Amino acid sequence: MKSRAEKIVMVTAYDYPTACLVDEAGVDVVLVGDSLGMVVLGYDTTLPVTLGDMIHHAKAVVRGVKRALVAVDMPFLTYQTGTSDALRNAGRILQETGAAAVKLEGGVDVCPQVRALVSAGIPVIGHLGLTPQSVHVFGGYKPQGRDEEAAQRILSDAQALEHSGAFSIVLECIPEDLAEKITATVSIPTVGIGAGVHCDGQVLVLHDLLGIAGNVQPRFVKQYARVGKVIREAVEEYSREVREAKFPGPEHSFVSEERGSEERAVPYSTASNKT
Ligand code: KIV
Repeated sequence: MKSRAEKIVMVTAYDYPTACLVDEAGVDVVLVGDSLGMVVLGYDTTLPVTLGDMIHHAKAVVRGVKRALVAVDMPFLTYQTGTSDALRNAGRILQETGAAAVKLEGGVDVCPQVRALVSAGIPVIGHLGLTPQSVHVFGGYKPQGRDEEAAQRILSDAQALEHSGAFSIVLECIPEDLAEKITATVSIPTVGIGAGVHCDGQVLVLHDLLGIAGNVQPRFVKQYARVGKVIREAVEEYSREVREAKFPGPEHSFVSEERGSEERAVPYSTASNKT
């Protein structure tokens, strides 16, 4: 896609129904991001997310995706501790979830891990710039690579990741001219989030683009819907109708055998009965 100058669309998903929807919408890559910790599990950072959490959610996502590539984030301290940990944990992700690739954060420091995974047949996406697992090193969620030295370091990291065998790099929250330079320098695709329009593709956190949670959005997020408002209003209406005995109506109720013909009750909307 990079060589054809076709933009790559990546979005996160963490469960079966949203995985079905984003896949049906035609995205190229579904990322089970460790942003899971913040937008689904309610943590302040991604640091508490465990390998078990990622595997649990990635399995559900893989069940929903028929077409797109599914990549899964390696959580904090599942790869920084060495190549054998990285191999064992990335291996579990691919074997237990059925996903096709992993993503990990960092540059030169994690290149031995990237080489080991790629040699073992595990495709790797790199992640540079504002890497959220290092939030405490950065002293908060701040744009990275804004001075000459920091920009040069991120460019060198991108080249090192490419040489180590990563097949793509996420660039998060860096100046757009730096992202443009990296995109022109490396032959693998860059996927930006808060890194301007010149990257080979873009990624957003699904809950941010849908407007599900939180009123404060980072500047690089565009809300394409107000799904949080729709959910709140629907549940308010349901609550009102229950309290006023307007729900359930006759059309939602069953009659006893003498009065009605045989009826089938399907519990909940599931994969097997959804229309
Ligand atoms: O965890 C995540 O969702 C990510 C994306 C923001 C790239 O790493």
